[in-house]
Amino acid sequence: MNRDFLNRVESFGFAQILGFDLCINEFQEFCSGIGEVVPEEPGASLVTYLQSEKNLNVSDIPLHTDKSYWKKPPRFIVFYFKEISGFSGGETLLTNLVDSYQSLCIEDREILSKSNVLIKSPCNRKPYCQKVRLVELKDNSVKMVRFRLDVTHSSLRFVMGKWYDKAENSCISLSPAPGTILMVDNHRWAHGRNFCNFEQFGQRIIYRCLVL
Ligand SMILES: [Fe+2]
Repeated sequence: MNRDFLNRVESFGFAQILGFDLCINEFQEFCSGIGEVVPEEPGASLVTYLQSEKNLNVSDIPLHTDKSYWKKPPRFIVFYFKEISGFSGGETLLTNLVDSYQSLCIEDREILSKSNVLIKSPCNRKPYCQKVRLVELKDNSVKMVRFRLDVTHSSLRFVMGKWYDKAENSCISLSPAPGTILMVDNHRWAHGRNFCNFEQFGQRIIYRCLVL
């Protein structure tokens, strides 16, 4: 594992390195060098195979952190862009949630850091349910955030909407080339995706690992 790569993610929230040609097992081995790799559901494989093509998984994906409904969400999300062809749009979106949280007024920050919120897994996942804070502080610094519009308690939706707008306005947009490994700090940064346009035989294949 490239120590410099991990340092860059810990310092800046994300980093990418180019030029890999990995099979699924080699990617899993790479991620195991970062930390403990965990499956997205009990019994699932450690590497999730994400495939998009014409009429399959093309919609935009709102900004979110992964597995917000776990007791301990994974610290890092690692993506390997295996194959991309016949494709436009679908940019990967990244945003610093700590900065956008800090730009909210103090009343809104207190609502987010002091309310316990029931977070449930989406209906297409195994049932998880946690009563947690969306923003966890330690010594007045943000230790971890959980960010999902669709599972937030209704009384917090208005404040979440303001936070989301600020996060969206400061988004970074990436179009990683095939062979790129992108690692994101899932405790401080959100990710999402724009709508994808595929030609008839175009496709995009991404491998993904969750690292505690
Ligand atoms: Fe995600």
